[in-house]
Amino acid sequence: MAPRRPAETRNPACYAQTTPGLETVAAAEIRERLGGEIVRTASGLVVFRVEEIDDQLLELQTVEDVFLLAWGTNDLTRRAADLDLIENWTAEKPDWPNLLKIHHAIRPKPKGTPSYWLVVQQEGRHVYQRHSARKSLIRGLGAVIHPRWKVQEELADLEIWLSIHEQQAVCGVRLSDRTMRHRQWKKEHRPASLRPVVAAAMARQIGARPGLRILDPMCGVGTVLAESLRLARQSRERADPVLAGGDIDPDALQCSAINLRSWTPALLCRWNARRLPLADSSFDAVASNLPFGKQYAAGQDLGDLYGGVLAEADRVLVPGGVACFLTSEAALAKEVASARGWKPKETIHVEVLGQRAAIMTWRIPADRLD
Ligand SMILES: C[S@@+](CC[C@H](N)C(=O)[O-])C[C@H]1O[C@@H](n2cnc3c(N)ncnc32)[C@H](O)[C@@H]1O
Repeated sequence: MAPRRPAETRNPACYAQTTPGLETVAAAEIRERLGGEIVRTASGLVVFRVEEIDDQLLELQTVEDVFLLAWGTNDLTRRAADLDLIENWTAEKPDWPNLLKIHHAIRPKPKGTPSYWLVVQQEGRHVYQRHSARKSLIRGLGAVIHPRWKVQEELADLEIWLSIHEQQAVCGVRLSDRTMRHRQWKKEHRPASLRPVVAAAMARQIGARPGLRILDPMCGVGTVLAESLRLARQSRERADPVLAGGDIDPDALQCSAINLRSWTPALLCRWNARRLPLADSSFDAVASNLPFGKQYAAGQDLGDLYGGVLAEADRVLVPGGVACFLTSEAALAKEVASARGWKPKETIHVEVLGQRAAIMTWRIPADRLD
């Protein structure tokens, strides 16, 4: 690793916003891919430093957005006094010209009059409301935003965000845009389709890499397979993983074909995940987002469905293989997996579309008799 620069010449810190629960996964990715130093993590937030701030930051798979840190605090009082603090910190703490210079090096420089947009997020109990915090931010930015710049909500040249969560706040310049979280490859969506960042976390759990044979038996629009491919392609080797997926719903399969086939020859098949037309011990990893509750199980009893899907995963996985499921029914999944003798590897609790869920990973015993 390159020697660290003296503090006074160091780049500003950055921060990433994550799906709540994925902070540790995101911090590991930042360390491994960027050699980043993690300054701190909090719910939905990872603050870090990197030697070089460049467009590599926009390639991170498990974060929703990346920012240059203008200022941050854990010491909000939740009282009206915070409004003066926000204004003063915004005006005085950051080296705005340097932040804007770094931003321009990564984001295209605007032609003509620049446009900007301010985003204020506020969660928790505060005596002031979000619009008051926004006014403080605007006052603090008085000397930063030129009066002639246009206010523009969509695709603004510059976005400055203030995110307040209870006593914690971060303010920064957004480096990413919506393509970071929504992905270029995802042309087709369905209501139950998974957030790509969560699928990317699952891809890391199974260790997606070239040559690994990966199956998603309930693939929906193909998010887990696509993110596994993306992760594997970061490797220096040239080979892709071997991807296979299927779904009971032909519309879902149509979507995954559109999303995947332009960049990988994935095997896609309509099937019932409880009776897979696949040979025993033919995959190294199974990763899937099990239907959440009644809504997507289409009349199937969840206990029977989980029992059947995990039994088939057990059959098609090689001894020593890995199984990773995202589920809202952690207790049920745990019961079925332990009855099969699977060894728990890790459980990551996440919030998906406002629901509590878990990414549960198991190792299939290597000494299992086939
Ligand atoms: C939560 S969604 C998966 C979403 C997927 N990860 C994505 O990003 O689009 C669950 C999927 O399981 C499928 N499904 C439900 N029961 C099934 C079964 N018995 N066999 C195969 N697929 C099934 C549904 O059609 C749905 O596409």
